[in-house]
Amino acid sequence: MKAIILCAGKGTRLYPVTLTMPKPLVPVANKALLKYAIETLTCMGATEIGLVVNSLDSPIRSQLGDGLDTVGVPLTYIEQSNPQGLAHAVKLSEPFIGNEPFIMYLGDNIFQDKMTILYEKFEHTSAGAAIALTEVPDPHRFGIAELEGDKIKRLIEKPKDPPSNLAIAGVYVFQPAIFDAIDHIKPSWRNELEITDAIQYLLDQGQTVIPYIVDGWWIDAGNADSIVLANQLVLEDLPYTPPFNGDARIQGKSDVSHRVILGENVQIIDSMIRGPVTIGDGTIIRDSYIGPYTSIGENVFIEGSEIEHSIVMRNCEIKCVDRRIDSSLIADNTRVITTPNRPNTHRLVLAENSVVQF
Ligand code: G1P
Repeated sequence: MKAIILCAGKGTRLYPVTLTMPKPLVPVANKALLKYAIETLTCMGATEIGLVVNSLDSPIRSQLGDGLDTVGVPLTYIEQSNPQGLAHAVKLSEPFIGNEPFIMYLGDNIFQDKMTILYEKFEHTSAGAAIALTEVPDPHRFGIAELEGDKIKRLIEKPKDPPSNLAIAGVYVFQPAIFDAIDHIKPSWRNELEITDAIQYLLDQGQTVIPYIVDGWWIDAGNADSIVLANQLVLEDLPYTPPFNGDARIQGKSDVSHRVILGENVQIIDSMIRGPVTIGDGTIIRDSYIGPYTSIGENVFIEGSEIEHSIVMRNCEIKCVDRRIDSSLIADNTRVITTPNRPNTHRLVLAENSVVQF
């Protein structure tokens, strides 16, 4: 079965990180968001995946290539250079999909649920679609489903007056009839071809759309806070591993708790690591404290600092920061340092939309 993952969005709510890194490549527990999507889809039975990207030169393509060596499933790249909504992306995928049922997955969504039941519920029926739903506290921000018994009666995109708090989460299963439905819809108030409207068209034609209530957490990882929360939720699910004892990577007066993942050539020197934490290859931590729900990428150097509930990506340097760093998202090659030099100043080199909170 084929699946598509929509990865062409600009990720503006995650600027400046996404000015250089597409959102699906942002790491959560040291693994790109997109890899969680691919894992879920392969659990659902996908054997070929189309990635809808905003350019065939996307870093997503240079990192994942044809998929066979990188994620173990063949990948095809579909260009959506001028994104006009989710339904537009689906329409562009028609030549890749052909005339078969398929799964569509939003590339910045991450679920605890592996969703196998969603496809199983759909497979042996004549339904036109099946959608994942989950309860949310702020339904006006999502596509919302109105149910009648266990059937979907109506779907509305971003309703002002939501008929329920059941949001459409980012996984959909479709029959190829969705392509014809997309031909019948018009752009919405936000000038996008909404997939919600295309599914409503199926309902209007008398087709059944199967609801599936997601089991466990779901994060639509659009901004820094939701990425940091996704990191926490994934780390919370790490299986138990015992505290480190007698490992060459741990030196001096260090204390490394249970549920800590250490990469190759990591050095923990005179530091306390309190899991769940994951630390990438080649990283050095000296005279520091790394607290729960922290992911640190490859080749990072941390000295004389405390950090928790945060993501630090690759090749960063954090030195002698006097207050604990908390709930932060620090992208590749960033330096956060305190120097003893006078005058005692802050020196900042920041990209557009950066946040600095002293
Ligand atoms: C899109 C869909 C919406 C769905 C949401 C899930 O919204 O249009 O129906 O509930 O994804 O993340 P958007 O992210 O484009 O605002």
